[in-house]
Amino acid sequence: MAKRTIADTLRLASSHPIPQLGFGVYKSPPELCIQSCLTALRAGYRHIDTAQYYANEAEVGEAVRQSELLRRQDVFLTTKILSPESSAEENYRKCVESVRKLDAGEDGYVDLFLIHSPNCGGAENRKMLWQALERLHQEGKAKSIGVSNFGIQHIEELKEFAKVWPPHVNQIELHPWSQQTEIVAYCEKHGIAIEAYCPLVRNTKASDPTLAKVAEKHGVTPNQVLVRYCLERGWIPLPKSDNAMRIQTNADVFGFALDKEDMEALNGLNQGAKGAIVQAVSN
Ligand SMILES: NC(=O)c1ccc[n+]([C@@H]2O[C@H](COP(=O)([O-])OP(=O)(O)OC[C@H]3O[C@@H](n4cnc5c(N)ncnc54)[C@H](OP(=O)(O)O)[C@@H]3O)[C@@H](O)[C@H]2O)c1
Repeated sequence: MAKRTIADTLRLASSHPIPQLGFGVYKSPPELCIQSCLTALRAGYRHIDTAQYYANEAEVGEAVRQSELLRRQDVFLTTKILSPESSAEENYRKCVESVRKLDAGEDGYVDLFLIHSPNCGGAENRKMLWQALERLHQEGKAKSIGVSNFGIQHIEELKEFAKVWPPHVNQIELHPWSQQTEIVAYCEKHGIAIEAYCPLVRNTKASDPTLAKVAEKHGVTPNQVLVRYCLERGWIPLPKSDNAMRIQTNADVFGFALDKEDMEALNGLNQGAKGAIVQAVSN
């Protein structure tokens, strides 16, 4: 197999490529976010994951504008809608606002728009949110559309009315302690790309002995092993940091590879739903 590189992409069901390594900005405060994104872009990340809920979409957009070497089309931008309005029309307008914050150009677009959570007040709200995203997609304001924290039941439910199905992406919590095997197998079967949030388990597992042993074997840090683990699984990890050194080291994962023995050891850490620090999906 060809050597992995930071420029690797996966192909979404929408036919658009997505850089496999992403950069998360949850809890990146507006006063730091532009600088963190610029550091990430300089380090080679080409994919940034924000959300309406993170209150930093404008800063992410500004970082792309300020980046001297990169054009808008060189960077993959994702955002998400969490709180539904009372109609598909109002949801659509709220999403268009996000698109403007991220890309104020005449034909502004985001690369990926997600429904942030299925816990948004029931099936009717999920339907209205999906219809708003379908409209954005149809108009070219969102090149791809998808979901986050969706279990099998929620993705199946969309089938009843969706014009775009399957969703192009499902973003869920994934790392060795939370491997969510059922939803992962379902997404793989249906060609839904799998994004891994909390890939570093928010640095709570850095001294785990199994992880530390793998890291020591390769002369890298535990968090580098965790990012590489996601890449080996075919997932799209979204490590977050506001620290310049950590932003760089989290992306410096292409000078080593995890072998079968390492992957078996890490896969053996799975704790099912108990291993999730934010949430496991409900299937
Ligand atoms: N869809 C959803 O519901 C959902 C939920 C959660 C997250 N997400 C997305 O996924 C992204 C990643 O998840 P996350 O931010 O929750 O967790 P994470 O990426 O697993 O961990 C981030 C935390 O780890 C610290 N950290 C980063 N690199 C480190 C390193 N090399 N050594 C030590 N500590 C390090 C960061 O602090 P510093 O900033 O100080 O480095 C931050 O506190 C988010 O930013 C967001 O884009 C989505």
